[in-house]
Amino acid sequence: MKWTKEARYRTYESMTLAEQKKLELSVSASPWRQHYHIQPMYGLLNDPNGFVWYNGRYYLFYQWFPFGAVHGMKHWFQTESADLVNWENKGVAIKPDYSFESHGIYSGSGIVHNNLLYLFYTANKRDEEWNRLASQCLVIMDKTGRMTKQATPIIKSQPEGYTEHFRDPKVWREKDNFYMVVGGQREDLTGCVLLYQSHDLKQWSWQGEVKTKERNFGFMWECPDYFELQNHGILLFSPQGIHSKGDSFQNIYQSGAFVGKPLNIANGHFDHCDFQEIDAGFDFYAPQTTVSPDGRRLLVGWMGLPDIEYPTDSEGWAHCLTLPRELSIEGNVLYQKPIRELKEKRKNEVSAKLELSDSVENLGTLSGNSFEMICEVEIGSAQRAGLKLRVGEGEETLLYLDHGVKKVVLDRTKTGTPFAQEYGTIRQKHYQKNKVRFQIFIDISSIEVFVNDGEIVFTSRLFPKIESQGIQFFAEKGSAKIEAIQWKYE
Ligand code: FRU
Repeated sequence: MKWTKEARYRTYESMTLAEQKKLELSVSASPWRQHYHIQPMYGLLNDPNGFVWYNGRYYLFYQWFPFGAVHGMKHWFQTESADLVNWENKGVAIKPDYSFESHGIYSGSGIVHNNLLYLFYTANKRDEEWNRLASQCLVIMDKTGRMTKQATPIIKSQPEGYTEHFRDPKVWREKDNFYMVVGGQREDLTGCVLLYQSHDLKQWSWQGEVKTKERNFGFMWECPDYFELQNHGILLFSPQGIHSKGDSFQNIYQSGAFVGKPLNIANGHFDHCDFQEIDAGFDFYAPQTTVSPDGRRLLVGWMGLPDIEYPTDSEGWAHCLTLPRELSIEGNVLYQKPIRELKEKRKNEVSAKLELSDSVENLGTLSGNSFEMICEVEIGSAQRAGLKLRVGEGEETLLYLDHGVKKVVLDRTKTGTPFAQEYGTIRQKHYQKNKVRFQIFIDISSIEVFVNDGEIVFTSRLFPKIESQGIQFFAEKGSAKIEAIQWKYE
């Protein structure tokens, strides 16, 4: 199918039954549908939006293009959950109605106020010459689920000195005021975050930029999020145009945070440490946070990246969201742990304890393509030791410690159907201690690895054959001890 402008800019309402059936049929034949991650019925999913606890449940929306695995007319698709583990699809929540949003309902956030859920999004419009016009908009949802869209944008356009790359409002409350950060681009084509303030969530005034110490750090900062955690201020955002440096910034676009002192809201000054990439894997972008009723700061990201072709594209669907993670700060480092609710899924426990010496062990009892596993690797004299996952004919995904350089390595060179190889097939990051704990979540076409209780996280899509389900442990050129517990999710 040729993705002309006409084909890309249609709303979901215009989908015919025949088109829907065709997509459903194609998706149902996919070997890579996930078992326990949020994924689109068909079409393309990207950023998580409006993640919030409201009316006794979590709401988590996402960017959705219904007609195939390309970017085009975006809608907000709604999912809900009482426990962050089991999610229910609720259908399209926000669709383009007005001329100012004629080319898509872009990313944004939610906040609860006076028993109502305020959802902020970017309205995307293109004029005849295909110039972009972006405005920030509001829709209010009540407890019955009824949505009332404001008929005009709450922020009509970007301030002077900034380009039309002006999107992704994230709103929070501080005392009697509300604040909003919006991703932006200066006229000199450098990325930044813009700050707004409001008393009532409807009238917004521009406060200036968030004044960070990075004046020239990429060309656009998407999906900003500001929050405070353990007396630190954290500005999370997804900068585009950062060059790779050592093992960092290997993906096409980045996601990460400035951790610092709380933002000086009066003058926008933000005193912070260097940018921290928050995921060391291959497929992670546009994360967004919320607060749980018991006060935990939770994060969900898009397990994918823009401008990359994925193996499911030809099947008419693409991408999924990450599992929710709980954030904390240790030193000045942002840690991410899988949410404790996921323990509910632990059944069918199998364990293993091994002492390896220049060998590969295949236990047989540990295997699968949908599971959680905790694995401790204590490296003795070995040069490399760790695991091979999703092992099958000619396929394996490696997760190991490279003792010589003291790096944790995720290697998807032989994972299965290749993609995005121009960005490399290995990701690695330094570790400190000789004993390393991996908490691994494997789903049909993904891996999420939390190293040493969330100090390092690797998030990646994998596209092996369904029958590649072997797990092996190995130590090369010396000895290592490995202990593992696995919970199979079938
Ligand atoms: C990030 C992003 C956002 C935008 C949305 C459109 O992936 O480009 O900046 O709002 O996707 O789908």
